Amino acid sequence: MAKITTIFVCQKCGHQTPKWMGKCSECLAWNSFVEEALRQSSNLRNSKRSLVPSKTIPITAVQSIVENRLTTGIEEFDRVLGGGMLEGSLILIGGEPGIGKSTITLQCMGHLARRGNKVLYVSGEESAPQIKLRAERLNALSENLLVCSEICVEEILKLVDKIKPDVLVLDSVQTFYTSDLQSAPGSIGQVREVAFKVFQAIKYRNIPTLLIGHINKDGAIAGPKSLEHIVDTVVYFEGERGHTYRALRATKNRFGPTPEIGVFQMMPEGLVPVKNPSEWFLSERPEDSSGSTISATLEGSRTMLVEVQALVSTSSSIGMPRRMSTGFDHNRMSLLIAIMEKRLELNLRGEDIFVNLAGGIKITEPALDLAVAAAIASSFRDKVIDPLTVLIGEVGLTGEVRSVVQLDARIIEARRLGFKRCVIPHSAKQTKNLPDEGIELCFVKNLSNVFEQLF
Ligand SMILES: Nc1ncnc2c1ncn2[C@@H]1O[C@H](COP(=O)(O)OP(=O)(O)OP(=O)(O)O)[C@@H](O)[C@H]1O
Ligand SMILES: [Mg+2]
Ligand SMILES: [Zn+2]
Repeated sequence: MAKITTIFVCQKCGHQTPKWMGKCSECLAWNSFVEEALRQSSNLRNSKRSLVPSKTIPITAVQSIVENRLTTGIEEFDRVLGGGMLEGSLILIGGEPGIGKSTITLQCMGHLARRGNKVLYVSGEESAPQIKLRAERLNALSENLLVCSEICVEEILKLVDKIKPDVLVLDSVQTFYTSDLQSAPGSIGQVREVAFKVFQAIKYRNIPTLLIGHINKDGAIAGPKSLEHIVDTVVYFEGERGHTYRALRATKNRFGPTPEIGVFQMMPEGLVPVKNPSEWFLSERPEDSSGSTISATLEGSRTMLVEVQALVSTSSSIGMPRRMSTGFDHNRMSLLIAIMEKRLELNLRGEDIFVNLAGGIKITEPALDLAVAAAIASSFRDKVIDPLTVLIGEVGLTGEVRSVVQLDARIIEARRLGFKRCVIPHSAKQTKNLPDEGIELCFVKNLSNVFEQLF
């Protein structure tokens, strides 16, 4: 076995030292050193290996593999993964503490175990009785579901060799450690080394593996972000603990499309897929109130209608009005406000402005711009916008309304839910075969156009 020693590497400039330092002597960065394993003998081997060239084969002669995917029993989750768990793939599930990572994993594993797959669930966080308690609540009990509380990755891999599971779960990467490194579990060096070891081990054993990782509100330093390049698939949990809404979003997938999204509701019996997200998001919409608009967003292959809410009220603090947005990018909101002030001469300077996407969903798509701008204007003027109107379009710096992708799918979804009118970019006039039956299409060039139509 290779003799392993460790070094500390500055993550900013790559400077190496044998001891940890608080400040890098090369680039002067603070707290940038991370312990990494150094495999000395393999370095020697590498120099020898360079004399013998590696073999190459024409890609046409490479043996094709059949895509073998395990379906988890939760359709929404399978969709996010690109049709189930691919053999030998390492899937990272990231999310804030308490959001439901262990819950969905256990639900899937219960299903897989009942279908005859041998599942090994290794938890560094919960004891076997605690896992059982949860499994009972989630109706996930099965003889094929083997649980184990172990935190040394070498021991876990030995166990994998002994048990030869069909599926492996590691909950969570921050609780495991490798004996190659001296740093504590959860430090960047440990987290990365553990993930890398697991990655190598499962690739050659062909075991689909779920790796759970915690992130905090600001994306976490020692968290899953530093693992994204190692694993095959990255899925993040979205949602607030106070809301029941949860979304699983694939941000990277070597074996499927991104950004695919799955929508769930957190219930006592576990995460329940929401078949019809649009209806759900609109279910609590207030009637006839100003500051509420509807837009159609595209998440992966799915179109969803969402409600945008805005509240504009005279600010009590002079010169420092409050601007807050939930679910929509704060900078984007500020930009839209600036555009409205400049191009429409709306005097929003002394107003507190709050924007919120109902239900707890987060959307980064610019196609929502028009609905956000209209919601702000509607609240500012205290005028209700026709509740059967959907607004779709990006807003440019001169106030022009710009085209969005897959407009037709969005219009169809609006019509399906009974909306009567879609306000869409003027450029869409050139698009052939827009679905205009049963729904009125209003083409708009710029924001003042839009507001003429609405108010
Ligand atoms: N008995 C219960 N009945 C209903 N809901 C429950 C019950 N116990 C837990 N929950 C829900 O499950 C959530 C915890 O989910 P879970 O433990 O899967 O999250 P996690 O992301 O794995 O968290 P952690 O970071 O602690 O591992 C709780 O926030 C709660 O909403
Ligand atoms: Mg957990
Ligand atoms: Zn440095």
